[in-house]
Amino acid sequence: MNRINQISVFTLFVALSSFILFACAAPSKITEKSGAQLWAENCQRCHNNPPPDAFGDMQWGVITTHMASKLAITDDEEEKIVEFLKSGN
Ligand code: HEC
Repeated sequence: MNRINQISVFTLFVALSSFILFACAAPSKITEKSGAQLWAENCQRCHNNPPPDAFGDMQWGVITTHMASKLAITDDEEEKIVEFLKSGN
């Protein structure tokens, strides 16, 4: 392998690693939020916390997916909100 090749392999490596680092950095900021916080920011403006026994496991998932379809939230965020609601707030 000559010098030029070594440099381009290295450059490619640095470019790829920084791409991977930046690609992962953005979503982790969002997922740092707790279910309680996500619920308060996204759901509470329309209604109060339903009690955890109001719905079964299946229903929580379906309802939250239905509600989330009105909002720009990720699957991760949706899952956290379900966990928060099922835990008894
Ligand atoms: C834009 C207003 C709005 C937002 C935002 C919203 N909801 Fe709702 N939600 C409603 C309305 C209206 C209903 C009742 C009618 C329906 O099912 O669409 C409802 C019903 C529900 C129910 C069933 C309540 C019952 O007593 O039957 C649950 C649970 C629920 N939402 C959870 C959520 C969650 C979790 C979020 C956040 C991801 C959310 N909602 C965001 C308006 C909203």
